[in-house]
Amino acid sequence: MREQILNLIAPIKNPVSGQTFTMEGRWKEIAVDGEKITISYDREGISPQEKRLVEKMIVENLSGVVIEENLTLKSISANSADVFKAASTTTEVPAPAQIKTGHAAPMAKKSVPGVGKVIAIGSGKGGVGKSTFTVNLACTLSRMGRKVGVIDADIYGPSVPMLMGKRGEKPVANNDRKIIPLEAHGVKFLSFGLFVEEKDPVIWRGPMLGGVLNQFLFDADWAGLDYLFIDLPPGTGDVQLSMVQNCNVDGVIIISTPQDVALLDAVKGLEMFRKLHLPILGMVENMSSFVCSNCQHEHHLFGEAGVEKAVTKLEVPFLGKVPLEIELRMSADSGNPYMANPSFEGRPVARAFQAVAAKIEQQFHPQDPVKSGLFSRLFGG
Ligand SMILES: Nc1ncnc2c1ncn2[C@@H]1O[C@H](COP(=O)(O)OP(=O)(O)OP(=O)(O)O)[C@@H](O)[C@H]1O
Ligand SMILES: [Mg+2]
Repeated sequence: MREQILNLIAPIKNPVSGQTFTMEGRWKEIAVDGEKITISYDREGISPQEKRLVEKMIVENLSGVVIEENLTLKSISANSADVFKAASTTTEVPAPAQIKTGHAAPMAKKSVPGVGKVIAIGSGKGGVGKSTFTVNLACTLSRMGRKVGVIDADIYGPSVPMLMGKRGEKPVANNDRKIIPLEAHGVKFLSFGLFVEEKDPVIWRGPMLGGVLNQFLFDADWAGLDYLFIDLPPGTGDVQLSMVQNCNVDGVIIISTPQDVALLDAVKGLEMFRKLHLPILGMVENMSSFVCSNCQHEHHLFGEAGVEKAVTKLEVPFLGKVPLEIELRMSADSGNPYMANPSFEGRPVARAFQAVAAKIEQQFHPQDPVKSGLFSRLFGG
């Protein structure tokens, strides 16, 4: 991370001398503490006006990897007289345009070989049903005739092997030394959970994490997939950043439950993806309501339509709401995804997943009559 930051700020020039800060040895410290980055630099001879320019460039150059709120800039000046001298003699401030790199300029993002669309599933808060949603959406699209894969990028709580009923299985490599993803219920997948023992405490650090995710993306045999979903860990940490730095992501779906506390975090996640210039496909409200099987009354346990209302304010599409259903949880626990089981067809949860899948198809394959025909035959939609 430190090195990457250094590379990104390397082109920044001292407006007074025209030399880069790197050449002048002005970068004094780059401290990385989780998501928080502190950059200290030597501002000897640089006026307040020029300082503002330099700091604007730092923020711009890092916009793809560091959120502005997480960035602290410290300027060090042993001789403040220099500062004032420079300020009074500088009449014209050079325009920063020629050294502005923007977030994507120096980094060639790669596409995942052989994959149609890469879609990341994120959330602000943990436990909102992201993995359950990812696996079931993947199964839904698979049953519609699409070729689908899932990467479980959650190092702290990888749950996809369990949801797929493949705990304890180990992927092998093919002749080209590519990892062959496991397959279950018509969906290919890879997970950190397949490479670590479940009982082991996982204390992998961010950079290593990014490396493994890169391997999952680029050194695995995903060829032929229409969709590859990435189940991100909750929050706005290293994995999210490392993924978007390296990979062409076609869209992000944000999952939230309706209550304010989850929504608040979801909005933070959304803002992060926006700052990284990723296309937001929309938000999904999970656990939106619960229909009691005794009285058939619909209960809004976590508040009513919180996400549905929030999307208007946030100006993002609403992709749908998935109600609470005990069988969805039980299917997840038993490794038989709900949407891979035709006996649930017609229930509100099944209809919800089909509606979200239809929106994704509409977005990415609007002119595909064969698949939409198959979709109609399978689900009557
Ligand atoms: N709509 C739903 N109805 C019933 N149970 C649900 C629903 N959505 C999720 N669950 C259950 O809620 C729990 C949390 O879901 P899940 O593990 O998918 O969340 P997550 O956001 O991936 O969590 P983490 O942040 O730990 O990765 C699981 O037990 C899951 O079966
Ligand atoms: Mg999860």
